[in-house]
Amino acid sequence: MNHFLDLHTTAQGDLRAILDQAHQMKTARNGRPKGAADDSQPLAGHMVALIFEKPSTRTRVSFDVGVRQMGGQTMVLSGADMQLGHGETIADTARVLSRYVDLIMIRTFEEAVLQEMAEYASVPVINGLTNRTHPCQIMADVMTFEEHRGPITGKKVVWSGDGNNVFASFAHAAGQFGFDLTFTGPQALDPDPAVLGEARALGADISVERDPYKAVAGADLIVTDTWVSMHDPQSARERRHNQLYPYKVTTDLMAAANPDALFMHCLPAHRGDEVDSAVMDGPNSVIFDEAENRLHAQKAVMRWCLGV
Ligand code: CP
Ligand code: NVA
Repeated sequence: MNHFLDLHTTAQGDLRAILDQAHQMKTARNGRPKGAADDSQPLAGHMVALIFEKPSTRTRVSFDVGVRQMGGQTMVLSGADMQLGHGETIADTARVLSRYVDLIMIRTFEEAVLQEMAEYASVPVINGLTNRTHPCQIMADVMTFEEHRGPITGKKVVWSGDGNNVFASFAHAAGQFGFDLTFTGPQALDPDPAVLGEARALGADISVERDPYKAVAGADLIVTDTWVSMHDPQSARERRHNQLYPYKVTTDLMAAANPDALFMHCLPAHRGDEVDSAVMDGPNSVIFDEAENRLHAQKAVMRWCLGV
């Protein structure tokens, strides 16, 4: 069974095949209304559960629309409204849901919840973000980079900010897709060493540079994310803002990269904090292509999971 839990645990060839299919499916829909059915209906007769224990706009809507375009049906569930939020174990929830649905996507807090869901479900499970990783996002990001600039292999990607869950999936992707990744951020918010180990075990070339201007020299892509993630305590907000302020992506920082360097952000963004509006709305920003490509990439992920 094909669970889609993380980029470092999914075979390189499968990741590439998923992106190829995403690109084909996107092209095939060119110019159609969003609600139009795809020519092929690979999810016809399939029911997909989308479980959210954290807020979401893009993940919720893109999975829901993607399933419907492919002929399937969805149920969007809030963790708090399920017995899951009232003490029923993950293992029991996984076994029960597997009797009703063909595929489970879950956005949750601890990585262990995702792993337990996958261990006990008898249907495929997709990671829709945990405190540790966000693999669907980075599939869309790699797809977006390649649409604009061709193969990402050998390119230089710079992450400026918090060494968080989205960075972690970028690190795994660096190993799988063969791009160089530089982390620039405060030492206190360095990436998880275990994540770096997983990425380096795949051959990832990852460096750390505290000076953001030195870091972006020669960069083909600059990426950032919110300074306070959904799992971070609000009490840490002021400290994090102070630590991360030097790593804000400004037009000056973009100008220190390659002239055609792209800018990405998984969104939601806090304009004026981690990135200036001039960058978000600037000529090198591809943030809304990234958001769109969540739809196409995840449709291909679901097909891979179900083998359809
Ligand atoms: N980028 C992303 O996952 O956005 P949502 O939190 O809106 O799903
Ligand atoms: N790092 C962010 C990503 C949101 C899509 C968070 O976990 O809140």
